[in-house]
Amino acid sequence: HNLDQIKYDISLTIIGGTGLYHISDSPALNSVLSLVEVIPIVETPFGETSSPIYIYKTTKTSNPVYIAFLARHGLDHQYSPTSVPYQANISAIKRMKCNNIIAFSSVGSLKSDCKPTDFILPDQIIDLTKGLRPHSFLNELGLVGHISFGDPFSHPLREYLHSHNSSDPVIESLHVGGILFCMEGPQFSTRAESLMYIKMGGEDAKCINMSCVPESKLAKELEINYQMVCMVTDYDSWRLTDKPVDIQEVVKNLKQNSIKAKQMIFNIVQNIETLSASVGTPLKNNTFNSISIKNID
Ligand code: ADE
Repeated sequence: HNLDQIKYDISLTIIGGTGLYHISDSPALNSVLSLVEVIPIVETPFGETSSPIYIYKTTKTSNPVYIAFLARHGLDHQYSPTSVPYQANISAIKRMKCNNIIAFSSVGSLKSDCKPTDFILPDQIIDLTKGLRPHSFLNELGLVGHISFGDPFSHPLREYLHSHNSSDPVIESLHVGGILFCMEGPQFSTRAESLMYIKMGGEDAKCINMSCVPESKLAKELEINYQMVCMVTDYDSWRLTDKPVDIQEVVKNLKQNSIKAKQMIFNIVQNIETLSASVGTPLKNNTFNSISIKNID
């Protein structure tokens, strides 16, 4: 499939994380979205995307608005956080000329008041991955550059999500701001590591996952506005009176979280016509300017 020639103007791509592999199984979403095309797994210069790309159009807006969906770990959850083809996914989204990504991810909480099934819109990242994943496109392109990543997430997208979801009783608890740690996995953290994250991030340490890096870095390189929506499944391993996180605990909360995620997507669709005005102009020339270092005398 030649993504460059796609007929639709895609306003937003939603990336589904663990527990969110489809959005077509929600009656509420089916009442406002209709599936127009399934692009089979795409071969990109960086390998195959992790899943087909589902293209939906809105049915209740004055003009149709197009939204894409992709499952980060594959439809059968066949890609671990270390082996997700992040470059293929992000480059495919850019080839469709889509400049906005809302990415869902299951996380462990590092704060008592961020309870399992709460949602968090973090504004910072601390990257503790181990260098096993390609973090940039520049190497493959034969370029050298250093890209600004001080604000890893899009403030306007975060505000957009906050304003359209904060009073929704289904979503219930939506926390805004704070640090999302990213670890390599596949093992969860030791108790000492979990306590270290809290010391490192202080009051701002909110949650931990295994997938915001390099996804957010690659989106920034391709000048795509990106915000992660963190869905709390567990308290990680820092609460010494609880047993440390295990996969059963994570799985226990996935169902509830996916119901909430679909409600959030419903609210996004209901307000999609205001998205482009909310996010403003894309991050133009951010990357180009970062590779012009050779031109400095
Ligand atoms: N994803 C869900 N829970 C997690 C945890 N406790 N640590 C890392 N990634 C997670």
